[in-house]
Amino acid sequence: MNPKAMKHKIFETAFLVNWARASDPVLSRDPWANLWVTPESIRFSENFRDKISPHEEFQLCLRNRFFTEALEYFEKKWGHFVFLNIASGFTSYPFILNPTNTFIEMDQPHVIEYRQQKLTQFEKNNQIPKRKIHFISTDLNSKEGLEKLERTLKQNSSQPMFVLLEGITYYLKEDVNLKIFNLFEKILHPKSQVGLITWASAVKETPIMQKILDCFEKDLLFPRDQYTWIDDGWFSQWEHLKPLKRADYLELEKNYCPKPWRLTRNEIVDETFYLLEKI
Ligand SMILES: C[S@@+](CC[C@H](N)C(=O)[O-])C[C@H]1O[C@@H](n2cnc3c(N)ncnc32)[C@H](O)[C@@H]1O
Repeated sequence: MNPKAMKHKIFETAFLVNWARASDPVLSRDPWANLWVTPESIRFSENFRDKISPHEEFQLCLRNRFFTEALEYFEKKWGHFVFLNIASGFTSYPFILNPTNTFIEMDQPHVIEYRQQKLTQFEKNNQIPKRKIHFISTDLNSKEGLEKLERTLKQNSSQPMFVLLEGITYYLKEDVNLKIFNLFEKILHPKSQVGLITWASAVKETPIMQKILDCFEKDLLFPRDQYTWIDDGWFSQWEHLKPLKRADYLELEKNYCPKPWRLTRNEIVDETFYLLEKI
């Protein structure tokens, strides 16, 4: 990867997420995450975990599990569907889903380039199942990025789509998030679903979040005033996007793990999960 031209290095978090998913492939349901773990990503991720939260790996396994099950449920309901993964990083969802689905992944150009190069190598070595993925390289914070997204949504608007925004809303500008959801409201086929994660404004001042902002500012050069905070009420502005499900990590742990439960609110990176449906 050549991220030299990048202003910040927030893409490194895509490596961190896979390092975490690889820690418990049974819980995360991602047996391929380990392919993306590099010595540098181990160093960065362990440092992050040691500074921020001892539950980092466990939480990110729960997160992958939640979206894997949401996608499997959607597949069962519709058979063939279009899966659009916005800011897809190095996720493994296409490999767990049926190859006849349409897979589209969007991310920054250098991330897509690295992903394509590694996928070719993994396929050649029979380390992953073969999938045809359409890649879209773009900066979503740009006008061109939003135009590419609009075109992609329009080209696939004749059937239900599952759109995923996992680990991205907080890094995008506030008006960009609004524009993206306006496109969903206008273009998505009825019964399409949007899965996403947000950081609520209430977690902004917590000690853990302040440590994350410090760490990302120092290590990834991401400005601390550039995050977007989204609360439950934000979704009420769209008439045709209705919340189907809302969850947090404490609920996910209860769903997927036997007692004793280990997470407590003040020790976790407190993200909120939503599944919305287009009506
Ligand atoms: C925390 S990672 C999440 C990756 C993946 N969704 C996952 O859960 O593993 C954040 C991702 O957002 C991408 N990203 C951040 N800002 C972006 C932008 N302006 N345009 C496109 N992608 C962006 C990064 O490159 C990175 O892959």
